[in-house]
Amino acid sequence: MTRVAHVGVGGWGKNVLRVAGELADVAWVCDTDAGLLSAFAGRYPQARTTGALDDVLADDTVEAVLLATPVPTHHALAKRALEAGKHVFVEKPPAMRASEMEELVEIARARGRVLMPGHLLLYHPGVRTLKELVDTGDLGDVLCVYGNRQNLGVIRSNENALWSLGVHDLSVILWLLGEEPDTVVAHGRDFLQPGVEDVVFCYLRFPSGKVAHMHLSWLDPHKMRKITVVGREKMAVFDDMELERKVTVYEKGPWEPAETYGEWRTRTGDIWSPKIPNDEPLRLELEHFLRLVGDGPGEHREALDGLTVVRALDRLSESLRGG
Ligand SMILES: NC(=O)c1ccc[n+]([C@@H]2O[C@H](COP(=O)([O-])OP(=O)(O)OC[C@H]3O[C@@H](n4cnc5c(N)ncnc54)[C@H](O)[C@@H]3O)[C@@H](O)[C@H]2O)c1
Repeated sequence: MTRVAHVGVGGWGKNVLRVAGELADVAWVCDTDAGLLSAFAGRYPQARTTGALDDVLADDTVEAVLLATPVPTHHALAKRALEAGKHVFVEKPPAMRASEMEELVEIARARGRVLMPGHLLLYHPGVRTLKELVDTGDLGDVLCVYGNRQNLGVIRSNENALWSLGVHDLSVILWLLGEEPDTVVAHGRDFLQPGVEDVVFCYLRFPSGKVAHMHLSWLDPHKMRKITVVGREKMAVFDDMELERKVTVYEKGPWEPAETYGEWRTRTGDIWSPKIPNDEPLRLELEHFLRLVGDGPGEHREALDGLTVVRALDRLSESLRGG
């Protein structure tokens, strides 16, 4: 079993630690909050606890570090862990500037270490089905994709809705389309805390002509976790709020009959839902990371996918600030 150290046992980190405890040998649990740390000490008696990452990095038996600390700490902690020769899984987003992410990718490449950002949705069986529908051409040419990630709360203060929520949809949109946008525009407002946008609308245009949109908000009456893909032949929706019908395919589309050339009509057919396995995305994600660690050095696309996401976030932030 891979020997790992887990860093950050806050709201989300405790989930990562739970799954890591099932899949790997957790050698260390690290958090700067001594109270939290002692609460976890009893649950993982075989693991040592510390508030200092240096203790973890000095342990040569630790192969990989799992980082689930607040976003502004990611780049510095991931950099230290990679430089100490550890493989790194780091929660999304791994850096807050494209230049910082480029630096992490380069260190990982030079040292032959795995750097995997925690883009959880890419391991969701429903999103995987959406990707298959796109890649097999089942939907026809994809024209546009849009994401809705809205709810009332959780209101964050150290990252805005773009960085907290948009990173999920962006990782999926870029993965589905397999290209980087050439135009990005973001508009939003900081209603509650100066400089922290609560509501953000983003528009992305890709070299192929496809377009995408994201509505991101923690000031909304609807809890929505939805991605819609509009193809020329069919349309598909991934809805994470649905218990059973996570993916719905609509056999609908535009149609230009030969006899009335130039006049567009619409076509409606069946609406159906493929079966989506109930596997936990976080487990699939960490299994994937541990598989990459086990495979040893090689070309891994995960770090580069993370770079495209941070690059787009960086450009969207600039647009948001009126740059
Ligand atoms: N994939 C997902 O669906 C998902 C969901 C929620 C959060 N997240 C991500 O998980 C990460 C953590 O989010 P959270 O909500 O758990 O945050 P949190 O603030 O609840 O927890 C962060 C923990 O990190 C600890 N910490 C801070 N600096 C540290 C350091 N230098 N060394 C060791 N420990 C340190 C804090 O004491 C705290 O316990 C963020 O990157 C967030 O974006 C991912």
